[in-house]
Amino acid sequence: MDPTRDNPLIRLKAFFDGFGIFFIFAIAIALIAGFGAVFGVLEKSGTPEDAAGDIRYKTKKEIDAAQAAFLTENQISDAVGVVAKELVMSKPVAMKKPEQIVPGSATALKLAEAPAPDMKTIDAPAGDAEAPIDPAALEIGKAQFMVCGACHGMNGEGGVVAPPLAGSEWVTGPISNLILIQLRGLKGPITVKGQEYNFPAGMTPMAYQTDEQIAGVLTYIRNSFGNKASAVTAEQVAPLRGEVGKPQVTVEELTKP
Ligand code: HEC
Repeated sequence: MDPTRDNPLIRLKAFFDGFGIFFIFAIAIALIAGFGAVFGVLEKSGTPEDAAGDIRYKTKKEIDAAQAAFLTENQISDAVGVVAKELVMSKPVAMKKPEQIVPGSATALKLAEAPAPDMKTIDAPAGDAEAPIDPAALEIGKAQFMVCGACHGMNGEGGVVAPPLAGSEWVTGPISNLILIQLRGLKGPITVKGQEYNFPAGMTPMAYQTDEQIAGVLTYIRNSFGNKASAVTAEQVAPLRGEVGKPQVTVEELTKP
């Protein structure tokens, strides 16, 4: 006979020992849960995704409330208008930066070989102001002018953000100047009709236009608002395409009208 297993007293004690240990753990768990509930540690029983979502919803609520408190719908649309205007007036983004051209590459060689554009050849045909103007070119130019008109005034009268084109000696002057201004934009100061202008952002480049469109818009401003000068052709614009991406042109770089 086994002296321990078969002794009913020892078996009873073993049972209560086990029961006691179980009870101690039960009380410990109950206490932790109790404290947790009291101090809010276990309050959020959701998944980690819920917990992260709660923070986002709370932040969004705060932002919405802050916006509602400070900006009305009208103010927001005004702000968008200001930003859009700033964008139009902002500095040009270079499209072909010299430092992006790898030395010795095909592009670099092509640029090195290309003869410097000859402004005199471009300006030479400017002579004949009486030659009839191609109405198709004027039509293209008129459409392009919608953008110019926003700054220069729809009748080239000038405005709060740009000098006049009507009666401007630059407009009826050397054609290479006008093409350079289109391809590179312009940084003041510039004197037009005896008055000096120097707008903060200068003029943005309009190089997104095709050669025909640039020729068209220049032909248009040279023959509108009382101006009269020879037409500009796409063949005069093409040789200057390499100027795109250079900094805004200044009056020092232009030919005096
Ligand atoms: C974002 C406004 C803006 C737009 C759009 C704009 N210009 Fe200009 N333009 C200027 C400013 C500003 C100057 C003068 C530069 C300065 O003050 O720094 C100028 C100067 C000129 C000049 C030389 C000065 C003069 O008055 O004769 C010509 C020519 C010209 N722009 C033509 C054009 C043409 C053509 C277009 C459309 C394809 C155009 N501009 C679009 C702002 C603009």
